[in-house]
Amino acid sequence: MVLSPLLSNSSLSGCLRNLVRVTSMRNSVRSRHTRALPPTILSKIFGVNKGKAFGKDAATAGSDFQRSVNFVSPCLREELLCKLSEPVRDCCHKVTIVGTGMVGVAIANSLLFQRITSHIAMVDAFPKKLEGEGMDYSHSSTFIGDPKIEYDTDFCISHNSKVVVITAGVRPVKGETRLDLVQRNAEILRSIIPPLVNYSPNAVFVIISNPVDILSWITWKISGLPVHQVIGSGTHLDSARFRFLIADRLGIAPSSVQGYIIGEHGDSMVPLWSGVNVAGVQFRDIIPNIGLETDDERWYEIAKEVVKLGPVVRCLKGYSNTAIGLSAADIIMAILRNTQAIIPVSTLVQGHHDVCNEMFLSLPCAIGENGITQIIRMHMTEYEKKLFQASAGAVYNVQKDVKP
Ligand SMILES: NC(=O)c1ccc[n+]([C@@H]2O[C@H](COP(=O)([O-])OP(=O)(O)OC[C@H]3O[C@@H](n4cnc5c(N)ncnc54)[C@H](O)[C@@H]3O)[C@@H](O)[C@H]2O)c1
Repeated sequence: MVLSPLLSNSSLSGCLRNLVRVTSMRNSVRSRHTRALPPTILSKIFGVNKGKAFGKDAATAGSDFQRSVNFVSPCLREELLCKLSEPVRDCCHKVTIVGTGMVGVAIANSLLFQRITSHIAMVDAFPKKLEGEGMDYSHSSTFIGDPKIEYDTDFCISHNSKVVVITAGVRPVKGETRLDLVQRNAEILRSIIPPLVNYSPNAVFVIISNPVDILSWITWKISGLPVHQVIGSGTHLDSARFRFLIADRLGIAPSSVQGYIIGEHGDSMVPLWSGVNVAGVQFRDIIPNIGLETDDERWYEIAKEVVKLGPVVRCLKGYSNTAIGLSAADIIMAILRNTQAIIPVSTLVQGHHDVCNEMFLSLPCAIGENGITQIIRMHMTEYEKKLFQASAGAVYNVQKDVKP
């Protein structure tokens, strides 16, 4: 609701009546949308303290106000509804999103608009933005299948989640790499992961904040959760960009191109050209040196472009959110529907492809209800294996100085 300072006295009191009516009805029927935040911006503007207005002092607020309070009879609920059982509080698809910035909102949109879940809880440290987003989603309910939307600055709202998504953090500023972000975002994780695990010990944690590989490792270490319950969004988005660029060059649908990027979600990501195919036809059978600098058709330029695409989108629109929102929703769908879909995500790669250090990087994994169930043993060329190890080296070089 936009509140104009030009509202006349009569329209202001009309507005107040409507507001109280809505709030009264909402309290009376115990709306599915809950909020437990400090006094709203609206109540500050109207000078109405919610507790007082609905307490015994409400009459002092004037006759108009009193009429509004009386508008919904306390008996209506009993007259209308004959209770047979208590509604279940948390549905089995509850997803908590921590951080309601550009990425958190894009993930919520992707989950709700595609009806992947019908229960979202949102947590943010910044109450004003959180309340605005929460209200906006609540007002959208009619159009998106009546989901249950909760929002609060308190982590208790995340109670009993099936999936907890971490988008809280800061974005890289211009010129800053994802790895530069690590100290600032690691600090945030240290404060939010323990209470989240406490409220949802069986949840699968999906980490989006950057640098996602190191933050996923930190989350795993801090949380004490089994490794399969911590998933970094990793190179799922990079693989989608890779497939898009290849498809664009061929004039076919991106979803019809099979191809993976593995390793770091960042500058050292590794395109697996040896496995790229369309309808089972391997590109390497047509161009044996595809992806190498000796390839006359210069397909390797596509992989270089993928690395730049995140920063380019951020530079153009100020942030990147739509594609990561859909990519995260794809991972969450695999968890909630227990599909065992193969998705390149960040997981513990120690012992895989000669990586010795305890660290997270992306490899294609099967994802289901418990998180990651299988890691695919990729068949790579020696060159790709070297690139993967170099990627591990680049990430570990930063991780080794970070305390979980
Ligand atoms: N993995 C990927 O592919 C990918 C893609 C895009 C962005 N990202 C990352 O996602 C993160 C979020 O990006 P954004 O654009 O949404 O940023 P944003 O600044 O719009 O939102 C971050 C939100 O986190 C909240 N927050 C900060 N500290 C918090 C705390 N302690 N508890 C709860 N909430 C807290 C802020 O209030 C803010 O609303 C960044 O780290 C960004 O780099 C990752």
